[in-house]
Amino acid sequence: MAASTNILETIGNTPMVEVRSFDTGPCRLFLKLENQNPGGSIKDRPALSMVEAAEQSGAIGPGGTLIEATAGNTGIGLALVARQKGYRLLLVIPDKMSQEKIFNLQAMGAEIRLTRSDVTRGHPEYYQDLASRLAGETPNSFFVNQFGNPANPLAHEEGTGPEIWEQMEHGVDAVVCGVGSGGTITGIGRFFGRQAPHVEMILADPVGSVLADQVNTGTPGPLGSWLVEGIGEDFIPEVSDLSLVSKAYKVTDAEAFAAARKLLVDEGILAGSSSGTLLAGALAFCREQGEEKNVVTLVCDSGNKYLSKMYNDYWMLDQGFIERESHGDLRDLIARPHADRASVTTSPDDTLATALSRMKLYDISQLPVLVDDNVVGIIDESDILWAIHRRHGVFTDRVASAMSVSPETVEASSDIDTLMTVFRRDLTAIVVDGDAFLGVITRIDLLNWLRRERRPEPPA
Ligand SMILES: Cc1ncc(COP(=O)(O)O)c(C=O)c1O
Repeated sequence: MAASTNILETIGNTPMVEVRSFDTGPCRLFLKLENQNPGGSIKDRPALSMVEAAEQSGAIGPGGTLIEATAGNTGIGLALVARQKGYRLLLVIPDKMSQEKIFNLQAMGAEIRLTRSDVTRGHPEYYQDLASRLAGETPNSFFVNQFGNPANPLAHEEGTGPEIWEQMEHGVDAVVCGVGSGGTITGIGRFFGRQAPHVEMILADPVGSVLADQVNTGTPGPLGSWLVEGIGEDFIPEVSDLSLVSKAYKVTDAEAFAAARKLLVDEGILAGSSSGTLLAGALAFCREQGEEKNVVTLVCDSGNKYLSKMYNDYWMLDQGFIERESHGDLRDLIARPHADRASVTTSPDDTLATALSRMKLYDISQLPVLVDDNVVGIIDESDILWAIHRRHGVFTDRVASAMSVSPETVEASSDIDTLMTVFRRDLTAIVVDGDAFLGVITRIDLLNWLRRERRPEPPA
């Protein structure tokens, strides 16, 4: 392969790989790895095509400003394209979006305008409406508007669709997609409608999105909520043409996360959460067939953005997707049990610098101090501050010199009221069984447990 002269030339022409470790019934299932695009997602394609279309129509000129309302993959794709082509990029983002996403976009040179996330369509501060208004007020600017921009589906009609056709050597029977803006399913659907109309377009939709019922019954379904990111909608996007879709499958978050996690462990593919939805939907379609078919679905983005969510067992546990053995006592509330070597602790011989960096790494303010699995003390930020500032210590001093000795502990058999008295004094509960340390419980752990269990009564 010849070297590219610019990163934008590496968008598209993504690999296709057959999955082997799943039950696909009589079918063969292939994944197109859109996570291999330079911005890490399928959205690099429409980002490039929407900007090129705006250039060709004269909607944007040299030194212009691109404006879009998104914190998602489209923002990253646009940041890549804008920077390489010399445009300013202003992204309007609801204030509930994670800091990580904002740091990522800022690091790519995008300007961020935060807006309210508690308002809906029609409110002046709704992110889409605000982006549109800012575009009206900014000279030489262009509102990219992926939900209404025909160059979005065109990227897939001219790129993704033909690539699938060639890579499958014209042997493809169905393509399974999700819908965010609907660009992917509409563009690929249009290509096959022209080139090979027997190819079925199948929608995989999160439970809670209104789109699956629209496809299967002609009426949008009831709106709910879901955790998978990037797909599922509460409205029918303007650029989407769902008449191209023959059938829709509803996929729960639990099914999506399980499919994506298995894809990583068994096939070595680190895919995002929506790819789990697509894979689970594609598997359901495959298993329903009565004859061999070649089915294609997409890995729309990389799983590296979800490492602290669906690939994190503690998050999965908090959300109730993983069950842990129940003890019927306070051990059930310990998020990181010491028995699993999951607790974060320190030893009297560690330096204060070590204790402090551990606190920062795990974002906690106090650490139990252990010797041979027994609690001998506790150290928190104030202990370190006191030792260094007031007692003129140094960060190489030992934890033993600064910790509080004989800390209060709570027996695993205690009740929730005992925990509450600890929390009321602004302490973290150190749970023990006799001398043996079992783990800590914070207020958040208790709240998570109460939410998970949905039962107000304490363990025995
Ligand atoms: C993360 C992600 N974003 C977006 C989309 C869908 O894109 P579109 O806006 O083309 O419907 C997908 C598709 O499955 C996706 O997985």
